[in-house]
Amino acid sequence: MAIPGETVEQILQAAHIEEVVGEFVTLKKRGSNLWGNCPFHNEKTPSFSVNPARNIFKCFGCGKAGDSAKFLMEHEHFTYPEALRYLAKKYNIKIEEKQQTAEEIMQQSLREKMFNINEFADKYFVDTLWNTEEGKTIGLEYFRERGYFDPIIQKFHLGYNPDSAHWDAFTEYARKNGYSEELLEQIGLSIKGSKGLYDRYHGRVMFPIHSLTGRVIGFGGRILVNDKKSPKYQNSPESEIYDKKQTLYGIYFAKNAIARQDECILVEGYFDVLRMHQIGIENVVASSGTSLTMEQIRLVKRYTKNITMLYDGDAAGIHAALRGTDMILSEGMNVRVVVLPPEHDPDTFGKEFSTEYVSNYLKENAKDFIRFKTELLLKDAENDPIKRGQVIRDIVETISVIPDSIFRITYVKECSRLLDMPEQTLTNELNKILRAKLKKTLGIEENVVPETETTTTPKQEESVEDQLPAGYYQERELVKLLLMYGKNMITDERLDENGEKVLEQVSVAQLIVDDLKADDFVFTNYVNRKIFDVFDKAIDEGYIPDDQFFVSHEDETISQLAADLLSTPYKLDQWEKYGIFVKQEEDVLRATVLSTIYRYKDLIIEERRKAIEEELKTAETAEDQLILLKRKKDLDDIRKQINKELGIVIAK
Ligand code: CTP
Ligand code: MN
Repeated sequence: MAIPGETVEQILQAAHIEEVVGEFVTLKKRGSNLWGNCPFHNEKTPSFSVNPARNIFKCFGCGKAGDSAKFLMEHEHFTYPEALRYLAKKYNIKIEEKQQTAEEIMQQSLREKMFNINEFADKYFVDTLWNTEEGKTIGLEYFRERGYFDPIIQKFHLGYNPDSAHWDAFTEYARKNGYSEELLEQIGLSIKGSKGLYDRYHGRVMFPIHSLTGRVIGFGGRILVNDKKSPKYQNSPESEIYDKKQTLYGIYFAKNAIARQDECILVEGYFDVLRMHQIGIENVVASSGTSLTMEQIRLVKRYTKNITMLYDGDAAGIHAALRGTDMILSEGMNVRVVVLPPEHDPDTFGKEFSTEYVSNYLKENAKDFIRFKTELLLKDAENDPIKRGQVIRDIVETISVIPDSIFRITYVKECSRLLDMPEQTLTNELNKILRAKLKKTLGIEENVVPETETTTTPKQEESVEDQLPAGYYQERELVKLLLMYGKNMITDERLDENGEKVLEQVSVAQLIVDDLKADDFVFTNYVNRKIFDVFDKAIDEGYIPDDQFFVSHEDETISQLAADLLSTPYKLDQWEKYGIFVKQEEDVLRATVLSTIYRYKDLIIEERRKAIEEELKTAETAEDQLILLKRKKDLDDIRKQINKELGIVIAK
């Protein structure tokens, strides 16, 4: 049920971050903030800060940041509504549930019915396995034969669906208990044949698939006989409660271990998960044979940033390891690969060797993914120069998806060694890809560093930082000023209707927005632009959103950036460094805002000018040249004006 927007606001305002966090972390006051050991990563000296004034937390070690709701989502693995409900209870705020529409009620009750029938089926399969002759001699015997002990069979609720003459033992039982044929078919436990409904899983051992919170959302059933016409595994079709791309087998049993060990081991099959658990390695989930999805990766990311892929030693296993990995890297996660000896999969490996041997094997053979891929492809290419070129492009492509530039640089260094290639060659290749991507995602070409720009002094190394669009830092700075001081009023010189200069009180937000819009400046970064647009629209409507609005924003890219930027104080006093003494705080703020705007504009204009100069070189007609020259002159005029104003600001 939905919580009304006003109540959400009320809850978030009532929540005191230091009290919410304080229940889980011991905090000590130091300066205006409170500090403690970060609950999200291991540390001995506190780098986890809580800022009561801004009502946010931030860890300077691992970078996690946000408001009270975000903290609970991260720490308690709550969903957003769950976090809100928790806070509402803590602060004694009554949630008036919104009246649901008839359709919502039906949808809700269909989901409930589905959970309900799955639970019923789960009980039936487990009961059949343990308490019927057929279940015991065929199903249970199968698991035991494969080396599984009773505790694991019980823990995972493994079961058995009988193989009756009409293949309808379960369907019949469900019908007798009042479940409708329609629901049985919808949830996929039964299939409609020419002679009516029959059990989808007849004669199979059963694996219930659990949601994050432990409810049964689907099933997998393994065949026990050799039958080429039947697939080895039958799985539930997707339904209102079972979305395959969001599901990882075993996540319910593994999530605590994953968080505790800060690592998630990814395997392919049901039995691989069971085996690892049986030998005491519990931070394991399975992708169930399909290639990994973004949703599954984000699911893991709630608990850890480290994924280790454990795959069969055969060619198919290695191939599977290569799939999906760019997606993990692009989420800023660390990926390692362990390849098993060719004859093994995790199930057989765990059966043959001791826990100690397996853990050691994992430790010793875990290879950083990029190193793994490089070595693998290189082996394939041997001395074929064409193939080698392909390998280099392939690897660099992979490196380019890593969001963190520091890591990218590290990988370039490492791969340059592995590929026996000058670092510069790889960097150039990488930059080419990054530039193309940047252009594509930003959809704005003029603010992007033109290709020729960074190579003016040859030899010199091109750093990946150069790939940042012009004015990147100034843009961030402006967003930070908007968030921190958006509501503050400062005196600005403006022109009135008669074109006369008048002094006027305006908000920092208004000043920034107006000033940038006046010269058609648009932020290049997508999130920055979103924040800018919110201010722009709000000002139009006559108000200015405050920092809490952004910190608690439903768009996670916005709330994350806001919490991030708001966590480090703005150094307004830096002016004194330059020998500029400003009397009042308002003056300092005004000077800071204006100079940041001017510096930002100056950088962008510089870029645009360079682009025009490049165009001039290839302009074909005199007319084209004239247009370009005119544009250049306009830019120069703006620039002159800016420098004049900047001079005035600093001189004041
Ligand atoms: N899978 C599936 N349907 C199939 C084959 C496989 O859904 N027809 C999924 C299952 O989740 C399976 C995983 O892919 O666990 C891996 O497949 P495979 O390696 O063939 O099976 P194992 O898990 O190794 O099963 P077993 O050891 O019993 O052969
Ligand atoms: Mn297997």
